[in-house]
Amino acid sequence: MPDHSSVSTLFSAPPLGNTITVSGWVRTFRNDQFIALSDGSTIRTLQIVIRKENFDDAFLKRINTGTSIRATGKLEKSPGKGQEIELITEELNILGDCDANEFPIQMKRHSLEFLREKAHLRFRTNTFGAVFRIRHHLAFAIHKYFNDHGFFYLHAPVITGSDAEGAGEMFRVTTLDLNNLPKKEDGRVDESLDFFGKSTHLTVSGQLEAELAALALSRVYTFGPTFRAENSNTSRHLAEFWMIEPEVAFNDLVANMDLAEDFLRYCISYALMHCKEDLEFLQEREISEDKMKPVEERQPLPLLQRLQFVSNNTFERLTYSEAIRVLLDSPYYKKKKFKFPVEWGIDLQSEHERYLVEKHFKKPVILTNYPAAIKAFYMRLNEDGKTVAAMDILVPGIGEIIGGSQREERYDVLRRKCQQFQIDEESIWWYLETRKFGSCVHAGFGLGFERLVMFVTGMQNIRDVIPFPRTPQNAAF
Ligand code: 4AD
Ligand code: MG
Repeated sequence: MPDHSSVSTLFSAPPLGNTITVSGWVRTFRNDQFIALSDGSTIRTLQIVIRKENFDDAFLKRINTGTSIRATGKLEKSPGKGQEIELITEELNILGDCDANEFPIQMKRHSLEFLREKAHLRFRTNTFGAVFRIRHHLAFAIHKYFNDHGFFYLHAPVITGSDAEGAGEMFRVTTLDLNNLPKKEDGRVDESLDFFGKSTHLTVSGQLEAELAALALSRVYTFGPTFRAENSNTSRHLAEFWMIEPEVAFNDLVANMDLAEDFLRYCISYALMHCKEDLEFLQEREISEDKMKPVEERQPLPLLQRLQFVSNNTFERLTYSEAIRVLLDSPYYKKKKFKFPVEWGIDLQSEHERYLVEKHFKKPVILTNYPAAIKAFYMRLNEDGKTVAAMDILVPGIGEIIGGSQREERYDVLRRKCQQFQIDEESIWWYLETRKFGSCVHAGFGLGFERLVMFVTGMQNIRDVIPFPRTPQNAAF
């Protein structure tokens, strides 16, 4: 047991009159008398009252924003405004000094861009404290949801020999000396001399492995880091992000959509239930940021109402073909407001997705049955021979948050798809074999964890919802 109490437990059940010890970091120090102490367990700070006559000036000067301290004293009802309880200090120790002139995190508003440069210290701010507590609760909610629904947590490998998405955006894993590569007679690198005796990469998705397990355990999910070397420097892309990928035997596309919708709405209600204070803080933050923005860029609803709306309402479901028609009929299209062309067969751009969810339906949307050519090889070919049983979930402010599909379970059709997509059958022989030995209808999807955290916290840049973002030209910290 720790020898001190956490601030969060002191607020949830205050042991008034008891002598307790707390440890944390000073947020503010007023009148040489009142310390606001944060230990990160909650957004709240505990007021520590000291009698300045008990300490000399040199000691008091060391109590700055950022100083780490340990205080022991009686917990009492606070007579002052702004806090319910306070600790009347009997003993105070400085654990770690913090030079006020050098510490970059001051008690004023810093820009998120500035704090990204200080990612090692940004946890000390209210905003990032709130974001990372919420991130934790969402991760926990995800495990709870699947555990409660009979799923098994599967650990897919991080190092892989296959490109699950076939998009060729993989990071290579090698122990070869880049300055002295072993070459074959034809001048190409001799990969047989590499660590695994073949070329390997960081995984872009655990789906193919999850499928293998689902075809035995019925309901599985992965939750791990995935890596994409796509050169997209946007507010929604990371080179390293976390993905949740459930895979269910005997589920078709409709069951897959039902699961995805229920799961997403559960995660949001869970956050509303368990992260209320942090969400309220982020909502206030967003409202004051919005005041500095042009009206059309402001949020239509405050954060908590947006989340309540999603957790209480069903999603709109329509096919890709219907979505194209909605876009072609839109005033936006007619007034040539889209930058990218709209016609059947295009890969929807984020401006199209956002028009559908934010302007047209004003709620989350599930789009299904995309053209086969713009989706991955493993998606099940529909009767029309042109579309696949894909489903993407789009949410306001983010765009695509989930991508999934019913999988191609027919051996012959899958082999044909491999040929069309120029996928070497040798590289995924194990995947193809499952279609020979007791294949069955199955489906799954992938949720981008950071995009969920963005949606729930209202943060606008994906770099601000992962502790240490990896993006093109940036792997600091
Ligand atoms: O749509 P994606 O590429 O689907 C898959 O990887 C499938 N294997 C999933 C499956 O069916 N099991 O990616 C799934 C989700 C996207 O909807 C998005 O939320 C997120 O992963 N995502 C990213 N998030 C952050 N940065 C990136 N570069 C991302 N790429 C995809
Ligand atoms: Mg996708």
